[in-house]
Amino acid sequence: NTKKIAIAIDGPAGAGKSSISKVVANELGYLYIDTGAMYRGVTWAVLDSKIDVNDQEAVEALLPSLNLTLEPTATACKVFVKGKDVTSLIRQQQINENVSKIASYKGVRQYLVERQQAMAAVGGVILDGRDIGSVVLPDAELKIYLTASVDARAKRRWLEVQGTPNEQTLDEIKKNVESRDEMDKNREESPLVCVDDAVVVDSSDMDFDETVAYMLKLIQETINHE
Ligand code: CDP
Ligand code: CDP
Repeated sequence: NTKKIAIAIDGPAGAGKSSISKVVANELGYLYIDTGAMYRGVTWAVLDSKIDVNDQEAVEALLPSLNLTLEPTATACKVFVKGKDVTSLIRQQQINENVSKIASYKGVRQYLVERQQAMAAVGGVILDGRDIGSVVLPDAELKIYLTASVDARAKRRWLEVQGTPNEQTLDEIKKNVESRDEMDKNREESPLVCVDDAVVVDSSDMDFDETVAYMLKLIQETINHE
């Protein structure tokens, strides 16, 4: 069976959504769309324009001029704002600290969801984020809620930034992960939820390769049932 399905992956920060999705998409020959990178791209543009992140109206007024695009490649999703490649800039600490505020604005979400749905229309896609199963792809053939304990997630993020300019203590990282989760779950506009028809995958005690293998198995089962 070679039917190409749509796969929605949601869950809290650091659960492994983007790294796992990338590998799984490559394995399947699917398109991987990192929606978090798009929220990060808008956040970068807001900070770059010196707009107050708390000024929803000013943030939303900026959107029409952004021309935010996502260019999926085999190794990463490149993000462009007004033609500028901001792919590495959007991983800075300052973005981590402001992105959940920006992502709480209705106008920002509408702007990005529209783009995400247009990109996903080709079929054979994996999208990861917070509202994929609930809002972006409510008809996805497979929805996965990927999670792990907050300590496991903070530790993974901490390991990633060792020896990079974004180095922080484990405690600082844990605090950021917790505060983003809190905002993402409690906002009014499409909060992070585990939808009823999602399969919950808790990767606290699974390593990277085990998680990939488990997700591929879930996907294959879904494709076989189509
Ligand atoms: O990779 P990490 O989990 O740290 O974050 P991300 O997936 O890059 O997403 C960054 C932030 O964007 C999240 O904390 C959410 O506030 C927001 N986001 C969202 O609201 N909806 C999505 N579909 C994706 C991300
Ligand atoms: O996208 P999300 O924020 O959910 O997480 P990520 O950026 O894909 O993953 C955070 C880190 O956890 C990455 O360095 C992964 O390699 C690692 N990871 C892991 O060590 N074990 C897993 N079972 C899943 C992810």
